[in-house]
Amino acid sequence: MEEAISPTDRVSALVRSSIREIERASIAVDGTAPLNDQVRLDLDFGAPPPRRHLVARGAGEHVVVGYAHLDGTGDTASAHLVVHPAHRRGGIGSALLRALRAESPCAALRIWAHGDAPAGRAFASSFGLARIRELWQMRRPADSPLSAPTYPSDVTVRTFEPGRDDVAWVKLNAAAFASHPEQSRVSLDDLHHRMQQPWFARSGFFLAERSAELVGFHWTKVHQPVGQEASLGEVHAIGVHPCAQGLGLGKALTLTGIHHLYGLGLGQVMLYVESDNDLAVALYQRLGFVRHTVDVMYGER
Ligand SMILES: CC(C)(COP(=O)(O)OP(=O)(O)OC[C@H]1O[C@@H](n2cnc3c(N)ncnc32)[C@H](O)[C@@H]1OP(=O)(O)O)[C@@H](O)C(=O)NCCC(=O)NCCS
Repeated sequence: MEEAISPTDRVSALVRSSIREIERASIAVDGTAPLNDQVRLDLDFGAPPPRRHLVARGAGEHVVVGYAHLDGTGDTASAHLVVHPAHRRGGIGSALLRALRAESPCAALRIWAHGDAPAGRAFASSFGLARIRELWQMRRPADSPLSAPTYPSDVTVRTFEPGRDDVAWVKLNAAAFASHPEQSRVSLDDLHHRMQQPWFARSGFFLAERSAELVGFHWTKVHQPVGQEASLGEVHAIGVHPCAQGLGLGKALTLTGIHHLYGLGLGQVMLYVESDNDLAVALYQRLGFVRHTVDVMYGER
């Protein structure tokens, strides 16, 4: 099996559509998408080293049966790994894991299992991998009451202007998320790739300014309906510069974005938060969010 798994930075349109099919089939079986936005962007635009695609092919060499994405940026490498439900329990997941380990530039390899489904849990335990990190998806229905945002008097709020705000936003994001392993590394290219996505809308990307400096943002996102699930709004990313933290900007920006999403007629709003980020979890619970699903990061301790 290993000979068939070759790391690459680009995949063909045919391979890309097979991976999308694996994703659709996995959602039907596991209940959640096995890949995240960054992986999908790398499939569309290429994965610059140290990010890599690993494609497992079946007996007919055009049939893609499994896929892994490796991100070797930073001190630990993180990966996504998925096998087509029709080809599971045949050793393909194990072969992809061995290929990931061989390709990983770091000793500590971490693997995301979105949705914490039984197959991922059993697979991780068969390799002795421990739960290292949990990311919660929280949701809030539109019919529970929501207060209006209040900002400090010297802060103004406006929406993102492409071309004018790009560089300043990348700096603000890096400062606001300095201790976050993935979000802190969003580059100008990453921002531009996201701006090319069909979901990007500058009218849903809010910036807080004080003395002509960006001090906070709330980037919202609208998910198109998937299967039985209706359209969903997302609190995609909220960040406040360390110099403006503690002024209530996080809460005010959250409220501004949620009101915007409900104003579009969306029935529910969701967000992702680290399970151990007690302050953020408590804020979201006060705003009416409840835990919906859990993403687990596995790894060797
Ligand atoms: C997890 C996943 C990648 C496993 O792929 P796979 O090709 O079925 O894995 P393998 O055949 O190599 O399984 C290796 C071992 O894992 C364990 N395992 C895997 N799936 C299992 C399941 N559904 N139930 C019980 N044990 C399971 C078994 O011990 C298995 O060995 P065995 O078949 O000899 O008993 C696949 O189920 C998947 O794509 N799930 C959704 C994505 C995901 O959760 N990814 C993150 C994984 S940490």
